[in-house]
Amino acid sequence: MRAFNSLCAVALLAQTVWAVTISEITGDRYISPYKGKRVSGLQGLVTAKSKSGFYLRSTDADSDNRTSNSVYVYGSRGVSQVSVGDIVTLSGKVAEYRSSSSYVYSTEIESPADINVLSSGNTVTPIVIGQNGRNPPTVQYSSLDNGDIFSLPSNSSEISTANPVLQPTQYGMDFWQSLSGELATLTGLTAISKANKYGDTWVIGDWPVTGLNDRGGLTMRANDSNPESIVIGSPLDGSSNPIDSKLGDTLEDITGIITQAYGFYALLPLTSLKRTGSNSTAATATSLVSDGTCSAITIGDYNVDNFSPDSPTMDGIAKHIAQYLKSPTVVFLQEIQDNSGSTDNGVVSASLTLSKLASAIKEQGGVAYNYTDIDPINDMNGGEHGGNIRVAYLYDPSVVRLRNYNPGSSTDATQVSSGGALSYNPGLIEPGNKAWDDSRKPLVAEWETLDGKNGFYTINVHFTSKYDSTSLEGDPRPPVNGWVETRVEQARVVAKFVTTLLAEKSEAKIITAGDFNEYVFVEPLEVFASTSTLLDLEEVTGIPSTERYTYLYNQNCESLDHMYVSSALTAGASMEHIHVNTWVSRADELSDHDPTVALFNVCE
Ligand SMILES: *[C@@H]1O[C@H](CO)[C@@H](O)[C@H](O)[C@H]1NC(C)=O
Ligand SMILES: *[C@@H]1O[C@H](CO)[C@@H](O)[C@H](O)[C@H]1NC(C)=O
Ligand SMILES: *[C@@H]1O[C@H](CO)[C@@H](O)[C@H](O)[C@H]1NC(C)=O
Ligand SMILES: *[C@@H]1O[C@H](CO)[C@@H](O)[C@H](O)[C@H]1NC(C)=O
Ligand SMILES: *[C@@H]1O[C@H](CO)[C@@H](O)[C@H](O)[C@H]1NC(C)=O
Repeated sequence: MRAFNSLCAVALLAQTVWAVTISEITGDRYISPYKGKRVSGLQGLVTAKSKSGFYLRSTDADSDNRTSNSVYVYGSRGVSQVSVGDIVTLSGKVAEYRSSSSYVYSTEIESPADINVLSSGNTVTPIVIGQNGRNPPTVQYSSLDNGDIFSLPSNSSEISTANPVLQPTQYGMDFWQSLSGELATLTGLTAISKANKYGDTWVIGDWPVTGLNDRGGLTMRANDSNPESIVIGSPLDGSSNPIDSKLGDTLEDITGIITQAYGFYALLPLTSLKRTGSNSTAATATSLVSDGTCSAITIGDYNVDNFSPDSPTMDGIAKHIAQYLKSPTVVFLQEIQDNSGSTDNGVVSASLTLSKLASAIKEQGGVAYNYTDIDPINDMNGGEHGGNIRVAYLYDPSVVRLRNYNPGSSTDATQVSSGGALSYNPGLIEPGNKAWDDSRKPLVAEWETLDGKNGFYTINVHFTSKYDSTSLEGDPRPPVNGWVETRVEQARVVAKFVTTLLAEKSEAKIITAGDFNEYVFVEPLEVFASTSTLLDLEEVTGIPSTERYTYLYNQNCESLDHMYVSSALTAGASMEHIHVNTWVSRADELSDHDPTVALFNVCE
């Protein structure tokens, strides 16, 4: 036993590095050049403490802005021995820590020992982001992203293995990494997300940003997913951030430690966030209203988030459709569950879900809708277990009807015959294609005005979601865009159908809309647009790029929901996103998506 101990001591001594500085330990790359080594005589100022460690800033800071001058010292034993403002020396082991294999590592000093307080009561001055040239880059995340975080293949390299040299003026992740462990103040703060249930809130400060929208948030655009933002995590003093913060709220200046938390660069504030203001302007009703004739048909699109007859959001969603969307002539719905909601009992019909919604809309002053959908095969559509979500339409039977109503079954693939007639109306597009395994089958319908003279087609889609994606600031680069290959296949199947229809009827008026679970500038929708030749209605109607959003996820206002139209529908078309959900707090949202309304002239 004794012999074993002294052997260990010799081995330890052999690996110990003396009189190294903190910036030498953090280094100019992600992984420390001293990883695994014991260091001794490390000197620094204690800038902050947490329950399980403290943060140490070098008293011998270097001027290389790639290397952080601060580091986390992990181990609760050390915490009781130091106070903020102490200058200490210590020894410990350099380690790289992460709580998940898809996150970036943080460098820390573990098992601190030989803690020696040299002096106390020293001034601790936070650095200020946005001052002295410390502005986060606004466009690119990492040098390993091949120019675009959504380029394919994703995960073609990993930060932990490539260990790139930091370029903090070019890449957002490198900027925040170069300040890892540092005590920093953020000033002029705006919340650009809703707080999550723990109070974590994404912010920007008074540094330059790109993608700023009218509400004060940042909109994701092609090649620009806003690395200039940072999430405010749990306060170090054990207090809690407000959980009702929302997009565009203003916040008090805040000071805390920059680190990695749950796969993102985060600032852990010394104490909780405080709100100084909120924008009380609520979303207003659409200005796009149908006049009941072919010259002004309106189309709504709304993912109503696992909606069932017992949804507590029943009246609220009905109010959105009646009063904010002004009862569009046809409403594309996604995430309509069966009559028994998420109970997995073999029920597949959604007749009750849809008829209750139609009645509730009428009660909210909307039109008397009829509805149509096709029941899925039990448990084959993915989504919440037992819910049998599907896409569905509401339509105003005083304005339009299904042309030659002849609904297909869950296994019938509707075909286009000469002149553009559908073999099933409504019908599913290739429901047996494996692209739709565990996913929602697209629902195509042909409509006509009640005089039978004017017609148009709709295709309602809900592509496979992005679950299994990795964080935009995670280890795989470019980040994993979950199920992107499946969405590419789904896009091809729908585009092929559109191509067939346009080949039979070149002047066909086609609206393909819904929750594509993808951004227009990423491969699935690039494939969809180029193959189908349909046009992105946001582009057609000239919505400013910063106002193109229907969803708020982490730091980005973004668009997963879209409308694509054939060229026969572009003249006089209009479009509005109605921000009834992205602008309110988490407790007040009725769905995670905003609805959209468009207006078209469908006259022959
Ligand atoms: C980092 O240092 C370089 C060279 O001294 C300078 O050009 C750059 O602006 C600095 N960047 C930051 C974020 O301080
Ligand atoms: C985005 O970046 C990629 C790769 O650098 C480039 O090929 C593409 O043209 C860019 N797209 C836009 C819209 O700027
Ligand atoms: C990324 O690729 C690496 C190396 O091929 C692999 O080990 C890792 O599991 C991948 N990560 C994800 C999240 O797919
Ligand atoms: C509140 O939001 C509205 C709508 O986005 C915007 O026009 C207005 O400028 C905002 N007001 C403030 C004080 O930010
Ligand atoms: C409602 O639609 C069904 C077909 O889905 C049709 O049989 C019925 O006549 C329609 N009702 C009205 C009022 O149009």
